Amino acid sequence: MASEPIFIPDNQEFTLDQFLLPKNVEREDISSILIPGGTVRNRIKTMAKEIRDDYHNRDLLLVCILNGAYQFFTDLVHYIDGASQTGDNPFYFKFLPVNSYKDDKSTGTLNIGEFDPRVVTGKDLLIVEDIVDSGNTAVGKKFVPGVKPTGGLFQYFMEHNPHSIEMASMTVKRTTASNGFKPKYSGFSVPDKFLVGYGLDFNQRFRTLNHICVVSPTAIQKYNSD
Ligand code: IMP
Ligand code: MG
Repeated sequence: MASEPIFIPDNQEFTLDQFLLPKNVEREDISSILIPGGTVRNRIKTMAKEIRDDYHNRDLLLVCILNGAYQFFTDLVHYIDGASQTGDNPFYFKFLPVNSYKDDKSTGTLNIGEFDPRVVTGKDLLIVEDIVDSGNTAVGKKFVPGVKPTGGLFQYFMEHNPHSIEMASMTVKRTTASNGFKPKYSGFSVPDKFLVGYGLDFNQRFRTLNHICVVSPTAIQKYNSD
């Protein structure tokens, strides 16, 4: 059973002197630490246990959406392995590059990398994402609960007849831009701020940060692609 995401309040912030950050990260680039890495990992461990239990006798295929989900994904796989019991079915995984963002804005077009879609046929597919923001990447612009999605990754994979399809996302943003889609498994409900770290980037920067952080307006200006 999937537990509710942990609610991170809008005003939650830890200062940069309360947790360690690598020396090569310029302090002016990060406004605050939103979720310390230890909490992220503990939550992922819980999600892994829930997923392992739910997919006990199933044919689980995890699809890691690159690049953002790489850290969440490796932790998740590690903990799913650890939670596995004698007799549990093995699970499989695939990596899929997808992008739709320029700077801190969604372009609305999904670029999906090369993938042999036949590997999903008959499988219990779990899409692994770093963050759900508008929900467009997941299910397209419009979403009606209980109705087959007409866009996004769900539609893309459903064309190739998986046995089932769900999503696990490390975070879900509380935003007015949301189309209402909620992944079955989600780690944290986060404020509507641009986040970096734990795989999340701003123009390819800050992915390796050990905590989920709020990027500063200074960094957004400095590393803007125009
Ligand atoms: P959506 O299509 O609007 O739901 O956005 C999903 C994708 O946008 C995610 O997989 C991320 O790659 C990217 N994204 C959205 N919000 C953030 C953020 O705060 N930081 C970094 N990437 C983000
Ligand atoms: Mg992503």
